[in-house]
Amino acid sequence: MSTDYKPQSAVAKWIDKRLPLITLFNGHLMQYPTPKNLNYWWTFGGILTFCLVTQIITGLVLAMHYIADADLAFSSVEHIMRDVNYGWFLRYIHANGASMFFIAVYIHMARSLFYGSYKEPRELIWIIGVFIFLLMIATAFMGYVLPWGQMSFWGATVITNLFSAIPVFGESITNWLWGGYSVGSPLLTRFFTLHYLLPFLIFGLVILHVWALHVPGNNNPEGIDVVQGSQDTVPFHPHYVVKDVFALLVFMIIFAGFVFFTPNLLGHTDNYIQANPLQTPEHIVPEWYFLPFYAILRAIPDKLGGVIMMVSAIAILAFLPWLDTSKVRSAKYRPLFRQFYWIFLANFLLLGYLGAQPAEGIYVIISRIATIYYFVHFIIILPVLGFVEKTKPLPKSISEPVLNDKERAAKAATAPA
Ligand code: HEM
Repeated sequence: MSTDYKPQSAVAKWIDKRLPLITLFNGHLMQYPTPKNLNYWWTFGGILTFCLVTQIITGLVLAMHYIADADLAFSSVEHIMRDVNYGWFLRYIHANGASMFFIAVYIHMARSLFYGSYKEPRELIWIIGVFIFLLMIATAFMGYVLPWGQMSFWGATVITNLFSAIPVFGESITNWLWGGYSVGSPLLTRFFTLHYLLPFLIFGLVILHVWALHVPGNNNPEGIDVVQGSQDTVPFHPHYVVKDVFALLVFMIIFAGFVFFTPNLLGHTDNYIQANPLQTPEHIVPEWYFLPFYAILRAIPDKLGGVIMMVSAIAILAFLPWLDTSKVRSAKYRPLFRQFYWIFLANFLLLGYLGAQPAEGIYVIISRIATIYYFVHFIIILPVLGFVEKTKPLPKSISEPVLNDKERAAKAATAPA
C-alpha cells in the first residue's frame, strides 16, 4: 500500500530504513482508506482477531500445566481448576472463548454472505476464510478432546472412526491415526500437538486474509465500488479503530458474562466425568458450533456418504464466488436473494437444532430435507437467481442512500478527500 508516512523519531527512522515495518503498519492499520459507510457487522473481523490472540495466550499458559496422557489429562485439568492460581479463570476463558470465536465467525460469514463480500474481486479473501474456518473446526474439535472427559473420549471415537468408512484403506488409516487399536494416549498426544500448532497456522492465514483484503479494499453495505481517494473513504484510524474498540468492549462484556456467571452453560455435563471406554454416554453430542454439520453427517444412512456430505457442506463454500452468478453484491439491492438468504439461515439453525436431537424418527427425516435444502441453496437457487432476479437500481455512490440527494452524493463521490 502506498503511503506518504515518514517516521518521526531517530530510532523509528533508523529501523524503518532497514526494515520498513513502521511504514507498513502505518499504511495498513492507520491510513488504510476504508469506506465511510461500514456498519457494525464489519467489526467482527477485529473481534475475531481478538478471539484468536486470546485463545493463543490462554492456551499457552494452560499448556504449561496440562499433561497430555490418558491417565493424567483429566486430573491435570482438575489441578488447573483447583490449584493453579487463576487456573479456573484461564480455563473458562479458553473454553468459552472457543464458543465466542465461533459466534463471531458465524456472524462474520453471515455478513459476507448478505453483502456479497465473496464476489469479484474478493474471492480469495473468502477462500482463505474458508480454510481458516476448516482449521478452526479442526482446532476446536481436538481441543475438546484434551480434558479427556466422557464427551472428549466418545466424540474422538465417533469422529476418528469416520475414517474407517474410507474404502479399502479405512481401517489401516484409522489405526494409524490412533497409533494403536483404540482411542488412547497416542491419539491424545497427537491431538495436543496439533491443537497447539494449528492456531499459529490460522494466524498466518489471517495475515494473508487481511493482505488480500487490503488489495481491493473493503466491500460495504451498498456493495458498490468506492472511489479511492474521494470522500467515499476515511482513514482506518481513528474512525474505525474507535468503532471496532467499542464493538469489542460490548463483545467482551457478553464474553465475561459467560465466564463469570454461566461458565459451563455451553459445555456438556458429561465432560466432568473422566473418560471411560467401557461406558458409552446416552447421547454423544458435539459442541453447539458443530451441530449443523453433525446433523448433515447423521442425515445420510450410509457412513461414507455422511462423511462426504459433511465435508462437502464446507467445501462448497469455496466455490460460492462462482455459484452465485449475480453481478450485484449487496442483498440490499437483491429482493429475491434476500428472502432466500433468510430461509438459508433458518435452515442452518434448524440443522443445528436437529444435530442436538437423537438420530431417530422424525428428526432424521427433517434432517434429510434440511440437508438437501442446504445444498439446493448453493447448487440451484444461487446460480438461477443471478439470471432471473430483477435487482433494484444501484446508487451511483455510497453517499447517495445517506444523503438522499443524488446531486450532492455525486459531488461527494468525486470530490477529493
Ligand atoms: C480467525 C478468523 C478470522 C479473522 C481473524 C478474520 C479477520 C478479518 C478482518 C480483520 C477483516 C476486515 C474487517 C471485516 O470485514 O470485518 C475480514 C474481512 C473478511 N473476511 Fe474474515 N476473518 C476470519 C475468518 C473468516 C472466515 C471464516 C471467512 C469466510 C469463510 C471470512 C471472510 C471474510 C471476507 C469475505 C471479508 C471481506 C469483508 C468485506 O470487505 O466485506 N473471514 N476478516
